[in-house]
Amino acid sequence: MNRKTNASASPARRVFIKSYGCQMNVYDSVRMADVLTAEGFQETDSPSEADLVILNTCHIREKAAEKVYSELGRLRKIKAERKANGRETLVAVAGCVAQAEGDEIVRRAPVVDMVFGPQSYHRLPDFVSRAEAGESVVDTEFPAEDKFDHLPLQMPKGARGQRRASAFLTVQEGCDKFCTFCVVPYTRGAEFSRPVTKIVDEARRLVAGGVSEITLLGQNVNAYHGEGPDGREWCLARLIEAVAGIGGIKRLRYTTSHPRDMDDTLIAAHRDIETLMPYLHLPVQSGSDRVLKAMNRGHGRNRYLEIIEDVRAARPDLALSSDFIVGFPGESDEDFEDTLDLVRRVRYAQAFSFKYSARPGTPAADAGDQVPEAVKAERLQRLQVLLRDQQAAFADGLVGQTLPVLFEKPGKLTGQIVGRSPYLQPVQVMAPENLMGAIMPVTITEAGPNSLFGHLTDPPDNTVKALTVGEAMVSA
Ligand code: 5AD
Ligand code: SF4
Repeated sequence: MNRKTNASASPARRVFIKSYGCQMNVYDSVRMADVLTAEGFQETDSPSEADLVILNTCHIREKAAEKVYSELGRLRKIKAERKANGRETLVAVAGCVAQAEGDEIVRRAPVVDMVFGPQSYHRLPDFVSRAEAGESVVDTEFPAEDKFDHLPLQMPKGARGQRRASAFLTVQEGCDKFCTFCVVPYTRGAEFSRPVTKIVDEARRLVAGGVSEITLLGQNVNAYHGEGPDGREWCLARLIEAVAGIGGIKRLRYTTSHPRDMDDTLIAAHRDIETLMPYLHLPVQSGSDRVLKAMNRGHGRNRYLEIIEDVRAARPDLALSSDFIVGFPGESDEDFEDTLDLVRRVRYAQAFSFKYSARPGTPAADAGDQVPEAVKAERLQRLQVLLRDQQAAFADGLVGQTLPVLFEKPGKLTGQIVGRSPYLQPVQVMAPENLMGAIMPVTITEAGPNSLFGHLTDPPDNTVKALTVGEAMVSA
């Protein structure tokens, strides 16, 4: 490519990408970095060194969207300082705020040169050339072509936002469920599943590059229904089986799921596929039938509890995580008590909880019976105390156990490295750095609020042997 030749003649242009919100955005940022690297850009961690700054934004709650505008205020100063030193800076807003607000962003923050939504990342090189020529670029179309067919292949190593040993892989995008509080169906568009062969090829390349854990991503990942190699529609369980069949894959995860699509084949996959990690993020949002109905979730609390029972029967060591919204319009004290009751019944290992945030254009935003902020705050606090206790109880229960830990990065202390338990908890261990990328048994000795502590179960001599075997498996 002659662009690359040009890039080597002059110093490479630098790009800074900041990701907000969900893992889908983290993955998208990696793919944008890949597009730009192919164009001769180099990534930087510092916005003041960047010729191009991209904010990959989240629109899910008002707070998330507002963060973008304060960041744009900071960028305005950086852009002016660089300009004073004779250097231009292009500023781009990508992601879901871009998709939802379009050219309104440029009106509110004239520092912005480019606005484009999540379906247009493959057009980035064209946007950059147009912006360099002085054009204000706004592209929030849902293009007819599939962006995945036009993006360069995901690079398994070194890209930002991606752990060395672990990678995200988008298999499904968009949502047709229209929960009444949620902007996703409007910002990410209709459900779309990538074909099985393309996903398996991408997973194979990741593994060949040293990745041993893959998380299959989708806004509604268990609604996956992509075309299989036999021309038929495959469900998520079949896809997981196909990816698990790739030699060298040690851990598989999928997120985020909807209870409505938690079918028996997927539950059976938790029993049958050993590499599928015993951890399930299954958002319920509320424990009240009345609220679930008003949210248009399409299931009641008993159905959710039934699913939990079934997945636990399939995989007894499975731990659960969820999302909750408090203060949804019309939520009474009694409804909220139902949520607390559901949490007590399930016993979560981890959870995310939010105050309801009215999002323009969604049905619930116009409901008359909005809950006062003070009530939302009080409910959130009570729910979070309960969830934190459950999280601590789960972590405490692991003390004394031996867990397989996938080591990912150096720790804060000298001689310490950090990995992840099967339940996604960070585990801090004093161990040699050459274990990075390996999965090793660790005896858990202590549980802190945000991570576990432990020591290698096997003595160092055996450690070296185990690593050699692990590495041979990766490259096989
Ligand atoms: N207000 C508060 N929380 C929300 N979520 C989605 N939309 C809203 C909203 N309008 C939460 C849900 C979802 C998670 C990703 O964000 O709990 O599962
Ligand atoms: Fe939003 Fe509901 Fe779709 Fe999840 S299932 S992305 S909460 S509309």
